[in-house]
Amino acid sequence: MPPAHAPDVVTARLEQLLSSIETSAAQLKQHLARRTHNAAKNEDSSSFPSYPFYDDPDACSSAFLMKMACERLITLVTPPHLTVMEQCTSFFTTAAMRICLEHNVAQHIYDLSEGDRGAPLQELSQAAMLDQELMTEVCNGSSKIGAYAEEKFNTSKQAGEDVAASPGLTPFGMYSGLPIYQWFHRPENQPRAQNFNQAMRGLARAMGFASILSDYPFNKLPPNTTLVDAGGGIGAMAEMILPVCPTLKMVVQDLEPVIEAAKSSPSDVIQGLMAEGRVSFEAHDFLKNQKEDLRGSAFLVCHVLLNQSDADSLQILKCIRNSDPSRLLIIDRLYGPFFPNEATSAEGEKEIYDTIRESYANTQDPKGRPGSQVLGGVFDMIMASMFVTKTRTLEQWVDLLTKAGYSLVGITPLRASFGHAVIEAKMV
Ligand SMILES: C[S@@+](CC[C@H](N)C(=O)[O-])C[C@H]1O[C@@H](n2cnc3c(N)ncnc32)[C@H](O)[C@@H]1O
Repeated sequence: MPPAHAPDVVTARLEQLLSSIETSAAQLKQHLARRTHNAAKNEDSSSFPSYPFYDDPDACSSAFLMKMACERLITLVTPPHLTVMEQCTSFFTTAAMRICLEHNVAQHIYDLSEGDRGAPLQELSQAAMLDQELMTEVCNGSSKIGAYAEEKFNTSKQAGEDVAASPGLTPFGMYSGLPIYQWFHRPENQPRAQNFNQAMRGLARAMGFASILSDYPFNKLPPNTTLVDAGGGIGAMAEMILPVCPTLKMVVQDLEPVIEAAKSSPSDVIQGLMAEGRVSFEAHDFLKNQKEDLRGSAFLVCHVLLNQSDADSLQILKCIRNSDPSRLLIIDRLYGPFFPNEATSAEGEKEIYDTIRESYANTQDPKGRPGSQVLGGVFDMIMASMFVTKTRTLEQWVDLLTKAGYSLVGITPLRASFGHAVIEAKMV
């Protein structure tokens, strides 16, 4: 173990970080109290600037200390590779800001906002001459870095869905002439397809799915359950789940070339599981009905619907439903829950943080808990710009499930730091 990770060093580090935060918070509170007192004495509300620590060197130092300690603390909550991904994908934030600037979004928000109502998305998209759904994704992503404040999250969803239903019109389709999963399987793209399969396997681990087994009780599935992993790639989930769930079997389905790749170069773990007959691979197009022998199985749809349009997602879920699934588990990103970040009254500010604290305290909250959403917002923009698809909110998941003939059983947030959850549903 490197000395920097020795238990006594880590303990000392945490104590130092937390007490730095406590001390600077106490100093900042004193500073605020002094300011409030002086403002009341002078009856001068203008002496309370928008950046209340900025003009006082001592307060500024305390705030900096707190910022540094909080940033270090974040690296202990968010694994470094995710922090690196955040930085690498910041290009999308720049692109989002450019779109907003070119379309004068800030000015339109100002012009459309009367009193407290904010700018309704539909009116904003018309004024800015932007597709409503895509503009919403850009604004969601930007508000996560504080560029805009959200009054109400993602309230509307209209435009964009027709475009999303037609893969030829997605930016990726326009660039390559084919939807991505067909493009991957052209002979000249074979090395790219192999890279993608391996990257998905790596991503499943990098995204913190390793915590999935303690977050969601796969080992409590009824004995001898067959779990069908639709669009399961080269078996990343089977590799993680099966070794700790001895009574479970999995069938991993994907397109023919992916299944060939999975069978021809399995990892050691997958090879062992195949020899025990606990995992099998089969080519199956998830847009078609399942084979009869899988009727009544449990189904897993992991990291698939995030780059499928609403129409195709509905089709995938309906095809699964046609085979009477004993349960449906979707592992995907869940955007939100949304909490406003700025109120216009003192009571409103208190209410915002009371709600957030309550939500963190209640691990059973069906809406899940807010996480570090920066990367979720960036991935939303990546999916939007390549495939015109979206990261769904709880309401959008429920809507999709209802249309496909399911009801929501529960949401289990994963500790993956950019908002994945196990969304469990049953047939109605
Ligand atoms: C984003 S990857 C997710 C892979 C895997 N579930 C995971 O979490 O690592 C999406 C997968 O869906 C597969 N896929 C795309 N279209 C499909 C189709 N029509 N039928 C079956 N699988 C498909 C792709 O080949 C790819 O492996």
